[in-house]
Amino acid sequence: MNVEWHVLETEAAAAFEAASAFVDLALLAIASTGRCTVALSGGTTPVSLYDVLAGHHAHRPIWGAMQLFWGDERLVPPTHEDSNYRMANARLLSRVPVEPTAIHPVPTNLGSADESATAYERTIRKNLGTAGSPVFDLAMLGLGADGHTASLFPSDSALQERQRLVVGVRNPASAIERVTVTIPLLHAASCLLFLVTGGAKAAVVKAVLAGPDQGSRLPAQLVCHGARRVLWFMDRAAARELSTESARPGQD
Ligand code: 6PG
Repeated sequence: MNVEWHVLETEAAAAFEAASAFVDLALLAIASTGRCTVALSGGTTPVSLYDVLAGHHAHRPIWGAMQLFWGDERLVPPTHEDSNYRMANARLLSRVPVEPTAIHPVPTNLGSADESATAYERTIRKNLGTAGSPVFDLAMLGLGADGHTASLFPSDSALQERQRLVVGVRNPASAIERVTVTIPLLHAASCLLFLVTGGAKAAVVKAVLAGPDQGSRLPAQLVCHGARRVLWFMDRAAARELSTESARPGQD
């Protein structure tokens, strides 16, 4: 596992650097294979990153070769205020020249999270390949204060899934059904990119990056511990409980 973290002074700086890394990774993937496949993240933190991509990188020669997916989605209509698709479309997809056919939202109108997950796995396999575990060039992730990432929640049975790439889950905090990629798909990805900001995440950041193994009690740590390459972009507030001796290469 290759974990590299970058601590920037502010949330805006962390988003800016994460956006630059996104573009650099896309350029490398496109140079290698002619395209870049990305699983976008949801929640609120990525808003600043998507704004930087749309505001500073819309001209970059990457968007026509992107294939965009989601690492998780809430089981709500794409027009719902909680929709990860709606947020990404408003802040990014509607502002960059990505091909509409290259945008693959999770279908949330199939009746259940499990049916949505099964359909989405088919979509991923159809676009990324059916052999073994398809490989995303980049999977973007956030971090919940409870240690969840994507919609892999602490102690959820989804964390034990080793065959399916996408499953239906229920958010324990809200009981809203969700669809999430599973650990095999995240571990197969070429690179994971965490963007985590704010002092409210400082304790869980320390637990994930510098604490003892907690197994399924700390999903983000499980995801990191088997990944091929992990980049973390944080602001000082989120990194404030990390001690200097636990710094990793690439520390800004
Ligand atoms: C989601 C995300 C989720 C998010 C964390 C952090 O759909 O909510 O996949 O994993 O990244 O909950 O959320 P914030 O960025 O809003 O703090």
